[in-house]
Amino acid sequence: PLHLRDIIPLDFSSAHSLPDSHAWSHSQPNDDDYVSFNDDASSSSFIPIIDLMDPNAMEQIGHACEKWGAFQLKNHGIPFCVIEDVEEEAKRLFALPTEQKLKALRSPGGATGYGRARISPFFPKFMWHEGFTIIGSPSHDAKKIWPNDHAGFCDLMENYEKQMKVLAERLTQMMFSLMDISEEKTKWVGASNISGAVQLNFYPSCPEPNRAMGLAPHTDTSLFTILHQSRITGLQIFKEGKEWVPVHPHPNTLVVHTGDLLHIISNARFRSALHRVTVNSTRERYSVAYFYSPPLDYVVSPLVDSVARFRDVTVKEYIGIKAKNFGEALSLIST
Ligand code: SIN
Ligand code: FE2
Repeated sequence: PLHLRDIIPLDFSSAHSLPDSHAWSHSQPNDDDYVSFNDDASSSSFIPIIDLMDPNAMEQIGHACEKWGAFQLKNHGIPFCVIEDVEEEAKRLFALPTEQKLKALRSPGGATGYGRARISPFFPKFMWHEGFTIIGSPSHDAKKIWPNDHAGFCDLMENYEKQMKVLAERLTQMMFSLMDISEEKTKWVGASNISGAVQLNFYPSCPEPNRAMGLAPHTDTSLFTILHQSRITGLQIFKEGKEWVPVHPHPNTLVVHTGDLLHIISNARFRSALHRVTVNSTRERYSVAYFYSPPLDYVVSPLVDSVARFRDVTVKEYIGIKAKNFGEALSLIST
């Protein structure tokens, strides 16, 4: 069972040194190591930037998902102001006094609300991170922190989810058509009972970034995740099981990375991207993740014409397996 210490974040505003509870033994690379990065997007050592208006976008997405499990997307159709407003709201939320944020602390068994990274219980050290998870309507928790002033936050988040869902459905159709999956098997796409989930992330600047971790290596449980990151580098993707590669932020560009459910449905062709987040000594970083998945009772199974590498499992069952066996969930359902 989870304890409150697994949920309540450190009060970073008063942390002037790295507590032992947050000191990872290995030296972590940090953003300062990448200040002079080569911004050439065509460079093969960075994840590709795909223009959704490009007639070849679909093939590029397929290639990126196979090779990297991730890509950056421009001309994605989400207005810049919508994304910017959500980032501003995230800043406003995390800047609240600690006791205010703690009013919306998630419960030990729950997923919605304020707290540490949800992957915390699986790691020996804590992360340099605060999060706010929204599953379903945001109003319940928003009311607790902004009793008289939560409507704006809720409207914004709901609009963000609505727009993200439209984009997610479009990407899903493209990915499934790349895999020749018939429409018969994808009837859930576009259903009104799928709302997705939004995760606001805050990575305060850190006195010892080389020994701290923003978010430990993990794969997402989603079908895929659409991520907005503020203008600070921090996200890294483990490329082809070999090296960590930074995903530098580009203006008006969203990061998409594949999750475990797409890994299963594609029979491991579109591999679930292992990713982590580093922190730096001077700048705060924010990100907003939208997790897109089929409904909880949907049976996930490889939908491609080859020998199935995974057994059938409902989304709900898979979430349960992952909650108990974090890093081994995919291998536990492999055939
Ligand atoms: C995440 O892994 O969901 C967060 C990624 C990020 O903050 O860039
Ligand atoms: Fe993630």
